[in-house]
Amino acid sequence: MAQEDVFKKIVSHCKEYGFVFPSSDIYDGLAAVYDYGQNGVELKNNIKEYWWKSMVLLHENIVGIDSAIFMHPTIWKASGHVDAFNDPLIDNRDSKKRYRADVLIEDQIAKYEEKINKEVEKARKKFGEAFDEAKFRETNPRVLDNQKKRDALHERYSEAMNAMDLNELKQIILDEGIVDPISGTKNWTDVRQFNLMFSTEMGSTADSASKIYLRPETAQGIFVNFQNIQRTTRKKVPFGVCQVGKSFRNEITPGNFIFRIREFEQMECEFFCKPDTDLEWFDYWRSYCHNWLLNLGIHDDNLRLRDHAKEELSFYSKATTDIEYLFPFGWGELWGIADRTDYDLTRHQEHSGKDLSYFDQEENRKYIPYVIEPSLGADRVALAFLCDAYDEEVIDEAKNDKRIVLRLHPALAPMKAAVLPLSKKLSEEAGNIYAELSKHFSVDYDDAGSIGKRYRRQDEIGTPFSITYDFDSKEDGCVTVRDRDTMEQTRIPVSGLVKYIEERLEF
Ligand code: GAP
Repeated sequence: MAQEDVFKKIVSHCKEYGFVFPSSDIYDGLAAVYDYGQNGVELKNNIKEYWWKSMVLLHENIVGIDSAIFMHPTIWKASGHVDAFNDPLIDNRDSKKRYRADVLIEDQIAKYEEKINKEVEKARKKFGEAFDEAKFRETNPRVLDNQKKRDALHERYSEAMNAMDLNELKQIILDEGIVDPISGTKNWTDVRQFNLMFSTEMGSTADSASKIYLRPETAQGIFVNFQNIQRTTRKKVPFGVCQVGKSFRNEITPGNFIFRIREFEQMECEFFCKPDTDLEWFDYWRSYCHNWLLNLGIHDDNLRLRDHAKEELSFYSKATTDIEYLFPFGWGELWGIADRTDYDLTRHQEHSGKDLSYFDQEENRKYIPYVIEPSLGADRVALAFLCDAYDEEVIDEAKNDKRIVLRLHPALAPMKAAVLPLSKKLSEEAGNIYAELSKHFSVDYDDAGSIGKRYRRQDEIGTPFSITYDFDSKEDGCVTVRDRDTMEQTRIPVSGLVKYIEERLEF
């Protein structure tokens, strides 16, 4: 099946099974804004809970906070968001569609890379075992030609982006002959800057109202509390501060369902360390984050760690790695790990006039700590877990027996178990089991339809254990537990159920 179709199926599955609904659905939705349904909210809460446990509870030198969404407007001046949190936009006069100029150029770079890869694959098929890819790339004239064009474009583009030279970005689009995918024309406007922050007014009268912003990242709430947290925890560097919360960006090219949206949640950690130890901590967080995803069952084949080249780094960053996931629509950034140096604290020190340096007693000197920031989007990683878990399994080809199963890690599954009485006559006893398990986990109860149909409904929302209470249960005090992935059934004493499930939720 084409990956595009797989993605369509995942999106409709999410709506059909109460994971994600378009926001304001009965009013035909609001662009790039989504609501989480009964299963989606459990999944997202589990992700946030396991992130919090791994970051805050498992590190004795990390604490958490919850800062306000509204913050003093100068914070966004200091952080650079007022002046530099911009996308370069270009409109096509014929289609009346708006595009990000940088994305149009990046797509063009990708086209050269695709051409090169196609040549390589063609040659691999032709020469079979004897194929020497490195030599082919070094010598084939078509590959060399496309590589030259790609590198020249990449260099020109990087320079234009670093200087935010809008005229040059437009010139690149014209020189490369990039056409609008809808109208097919090159009738482009000039490139303009567009700030991604949402703003609103605070204050009751027009005179006293001041412009404030909805935060575009949670990180700044941590930086501006650095002094408060260090003073009240008396933590010594290195220490970290985490928070989970909503962020807002007026994205120009939102899309791919909940991958790029305008209201989203971030899980961010700002890890403060000694200036000369930053790269060591950067490596630590790079592999910690990678392992976190693997431990929660994401297939490693679908992950890659992409180090930013020098010209791609943000102006304040010394090193950045994106952990990317292979979504059905292609590779996309999941988790950004950045060495932000002392940029943010220094800027806030300058703009607030407050001393944000740290006194290192061991070294008997003051310095502004460096910061390593692992930043993960809760919605984006939820989408990655859903894509990774979605499976259409053929059980019996001849009978056309198939099932959709979400193979989510049990720790993330919205429901940990479902209690299914074999007959409505057993609802009192099954109800007691449900009541007991509900004290420990999120549990579903379903007594409608055949047992086979009920199992399938649980597979579709990823419930790892379905517990059937039957007529023998009354006699032997046991229930049948069906495993979602293997469909194997095991007889287990009711008294051992909590332990049985608990052991399987560990990650
Ligand atoms: N404080 C650093 C920061 O915000 P970022 O790369 O802009 O860095 C970090 O965002 C993470 O937040 C991304 O890797 C992604 O997972 C998530 N994210 C960013 N913009 C998003 C959007 N529009 N929709 C959903 N998730 C988003």
